[in-house]
Amino acid sequence: MKEQKLVSGMRPTGKLHIGHYKGVIENWVKLQEEYSCYYFVADWHAMTTKFDNTESLRQDKINVVTDWLACGIDPNKSFVYIQSDIPEIAKLHILLSMITPNNWVERDPTLKDMIKMIKSGEEKNNSSQLSYGLLGYPVLMSADIMAFNASFVPVGVDQLAHLEITRDIARRFNNIYKVELFNEPLPKMTQVPLLKGIDGQKMGKSFRNDIKISDDEETTTKKVMQAITDRSRLRKSDLGHPDNCEVVYEYYKVFADRETVETVYSECQKGKRGCADCKRMLAKIINNKFSPIRERRFELSKRPEYIKEILKAGKEKARPVAQEVLERVNNIVGISL
Ligand code: TRP
Ligand code: SF4
Repeated sequence: MKEQKLVSGMRPTGKLHIGHYKGVIENWVKLQEEYSCYYFVADWHAMTTKFDNTESLRQDKINVVTDWLACGIDPNKSFVYIQSDIPEIAKLHILLSMITPNNWVERDPTLKDMIKMIKSGEEKNNSSQLSYGLLGYPVLMSADIMAFNASFVPVGVDQLAHLEITRDIARRFNNIYKVELFNEPLPKMTQVPLLKGIDGQKMGKSFRNDIKISDDEETTTKKVMQAITDRSRLRKSDLGHPDNCEVVYEYYKVFADRETVETVYSECQKGKRGCADCKRMLAKIINNKFSPIRERRFELSKRPEYIKEILKAGKEKARPVAQEVLERVNNIVGISL
């Protein structure tokens, strides 16, 4: 029996891209062997910024889970569920919000960044209004983790500030009520750096520069062919600078074997490799890598009812764990009679 619990969630932002795969999902798949893993779709978190734009929410939730399963998240090994299917998370969120000092959330740098993005219109939100719920983002995240009293949380660097607050809240709860109930969950960082989009900017759906896990071979090839390369190079015989080729060469480093990466490096430097050929070869490598995942995804996408069954079973497995934690919390705080 895997004893230590690990919780991680993702906001349903549509179909996942290959950066998500490399940066997050591949790691999640591995962690399943070692930990008792709770993987969930953070639909309430999605609403902290997209409260006025929910028409795709239902389909986005199904799509994210379809991607997870295709990539190897195994519902027989892990708990796979939707956040809003576990009402105990909301109940815990209310209690935690009572003991969380205002200034802890107000100074959260990740939250400050989100607020900046909304105000600047970069993050899609029709009203650009900031809500009370958004301020509670890190508290809700703490409830996600503490409802299962997890010990570990695999997250990227951008989420560390939130997790720091979770640790503070867990400690504060234990101090106020003089108990040793909650663990102070530790981050589990992913090793792989974030992949850039084909234009060299941050990869993301809203920037239209991402390659989706679910893209077909043709689309993938077309996108890779558009990628930027060493800009100082005009023709094949020009000596190249792979280190300045921040998309194509970086992708090689992530997706190709070492020998191939070394060949690309030396051929490019010596002017023996054209960028078009180089990209065509990269597209092939990416397509090969994702072909089994895409096949599985295609089969799963025809069975949304099956995905819903998985989520229902996940809820039925996960909820009793959260119920038990909540019962203890309510006893400690004095909520239950
Ligand atoms: N905030 C996370 C993100 O945007 C998603 C998330 C919500 C999460 N609750 C969580 C991650 C709990 C880990 C644990 O990526
Ligand atoms: Fe980049 Fe390949 Fe062109 Fe070199 S040959 S600049 S590595 S795309």
